[in-house]
Amino acid sequence: MKARHEHADVLIRNIKTLYTNQQCPPLRGKTLGTLVSIDEAWIAVKDGKIMAFGNDDHVPYCDEQTIFFDAEQTIVTPGFIDSHTHLVHGGSREAEFEALVHGVPYLEILRQGGGIHQTVKDTRRASFDDLYIQAKTSLDVMLSYGVTTIEAKSGYGLDIENERKQLLVAEALNRDHPMTIVSTYMGAHAIPPEHQGNPEAYVKEIIKDLSVIKDEGLATSVDVFCEEGVFTLEQTERILKASSELGFMRRLHADEIKPLGGAGLGVRLGARSVDHLLAISDEDIKRLSESDTVANLLPGTAFYLGKTYARAREMIDAGVAVSVSGDYNPGSSPTENFQFIMQLAASKMRMTPEEIINAVTVNAAYHLGLSDSVGSIAIGKRADLVMLDVPNLSYVFYHYGINHVKHVMKDGIMVISNKNQRRSQHGT
Ligand code: NIG
Ligand code: FE
Repeated sequence: MKARHEHADVLIRNIKTLYTNQQCPPLRGKTLGTLVSIDEAWIAVKDGKIMAFGNDDHVPYCDEQTIFFDAEQTIVTPGFIDSHTHLVHGGSREAEFEALVHGVPYLEILRQGGGIHQTVKDTRRASFDDLYIQAKTSLDVMLSYGVTTIEAKSGYGLDIENERKQLLVAEALNRDHPMTIVSTYMGAHAIPPEHQGNPEAYVKEIIKDLSVIKDEGLATSVDVFCEEGVFTLEQTERILKASSELGFMRRLHADEIKPLGGAGLGVRLGARSVDHLLAISDEDIKRLSESDTVANLLPGTAFYLGKTYARAREMIDAGVAVSVSGDYNPGSSPTENFQFIMQLAASKMRMTPEEIINAVTVNAAYHLGLSDSVGSIAIGKRADLVMLDVPNLSYVFYHYGINHVKHVMKDGIMVISNKNQRRSQHGT
């Protein structure tokens, strides 16, 4: 039985303002734009979890074993969640950058055997250790920018041996690295070279491989790149229905380049998220607004590929539940700087600071199926916290391209402490 007055392991005090959300996800409309704020706050942590929080009017129970941590008037939010990444992959694709800059379309590079196909070659060639080291380096950077949970997709192996290799790397890193990683099987990312000209055979192979992934517990979700020249609506539906029967959550790369109707299909199949949506139709915005499927918007991809940004404002105003992710991958969003992604959401998609914080915390946790453990500052949830060295929340989005993180706490342990300049003296 627990003692009546448990002491905190750590008491974080002197927080300028704490921001979180206590509403039931998925958040949409006005609720998406609302945060709870507590000025002059403290957070008590016990066994890696949030034990209590409040403001200076109510002081928590501590004893001589409690470690006091001075937040130095930083602003504190829940750890950021990047709910769409292609973390584990071999090589890099800077060789394609020039073609992209000269206007060669992304799908044309893919059609010519580059793009995803190049990374498939590099990933198949890479050993487990090569992939582990490359992914770990990325995780370190992500964590330093305030990300404490990510989703990581396979999809550069495109055969069971190499897809497993990617997923096993993610599993090992989830164990070894402070970052929480949840995996998605994305065998349906492209048609591999050995099946070119016979996509049907590959669709059958993916459906067969789903049980291997399930039996080994290597992923909780399945994703399909539903796009012209990649997987059709009909193939996507078959793969996702088979996934559903095995108990996987479903998600789609939908309407990224051509408006095929992947978002509407995702709603019909009960997908947790439909991602990208640069080319979504008005009808599918309406369908999404009437569903609990989250529109996962990835502004880094529009930025890098030079495309028009997703119509976030229209979606939010129509009542669609929205999250925002980085899509970290070697071909369409090669960055681990998640604050830059959040800043693009503000400056290019016209989302408010409150909407973005909710999008990358509570809504992201919801569609990953992690609402019980992360996504808000709430009693019993993991003590995953970001301390931002900024005078106010707007400043995070205003002063772009740099890292505002002062400290990151993960599972109650301070894992990042940056020596950045105090900014509070420059404004209020
Ligand atoms: O989400 N669009 C498909 N998949 C990734 C890009 C993968 C790549 O180019 O390597 C994306 O943008
Ligand atoms: Fe992606």
